[in-house]
Amino acid sequence: MDLLEGKAINLRVMEKEDLPLFAEWINKPEFIGEYNPLRQISRTEIEKGFEKSSLEQGEFIIEKKDGSKIGYMWHFTSVHPAVKLLEIGYFLVPSERGKGYCTEAVNIMVDYLFLSKNIIRIQAHTELRNIASQKVLEKVGFEKEGTIRKSIFNRGEWRDANLYSILKEEWKEQKILTKTA
Ligand SMILES: CC(C)(COP(=O)(O)OP(=O)(O)OC[C@H]1O[C@@H](n2cnc3c(N)ncnc32)[C@H](O)[C@@H]1OP(=O)(O)O)[C@@H](O)C(=O)NCCC(=O)NCCS
Repeated sequence: MDLLEGKAINLRVMEKEDLPLFAEWINKPEFIGEYNPLRQISRTEIEKGFEKSSLEQGEFIIEKKDGSKIGYMWHFTSVHPAVKLLEIGYFLVPSERGKGYCTEAVNIMVDYLFLSKNIIRIQAHTELRNIASQKVLEKVGFEKEGTIRKSIFNRGEWRDANLYSILKEEWKEQKILTKTA
């Protein structure tokens, strides 16, 4: 069994071979969704970014059990001189939304991060109107910390975001990630 195996989906570490599909996804407004900034990134830039990525960052493809690739999940560290905050982000292809896959993927990621890294909190930002994303976080046990006003520049305007987090003490037990011991 792979380490990041769930019931309906798995998280698989992203490889160089996934980059063409990732480039196709990330440049499509339907994939990014209306609550995330639009961007156009060349394959070359995506490849350069991938080569530069460090162990502070992890990128995963969300796959169904039949191996079909349905989304992207990553963790990264937002660095400030005094604080290091571990954050997650996620996207699903439009045809696979609303089936509970993202909730499962976030559960797996939370299990993985608390079991593998010496961290006490995981956070996520989501645009105020992004109800689906906030429902996912709440279902996994994240708490809303507050509103970060005018922090996302999207579609020509500054929009508010909500900041969510889950603390290690609130994460009572391993839910999804396959037990390996
Ligand atoms: C956010 C996203 C990842 C959620 O993935 P998903 O697999 O559809 O999520 P789930 O099915 O696990 O759960 C979604 C929940 O939101 C609900 N939901 C979906 N759209 C909604 C809407 N417009 N209003 C209210 N609730 C909504 C679903 O009913 C479900 O809740 P339920 O289980 O109580 O019924 C997906 O919508 C997406 O990829 N969006 C575009 C990218 C994005 O916004 N990423 C997040 C960046 S912070």
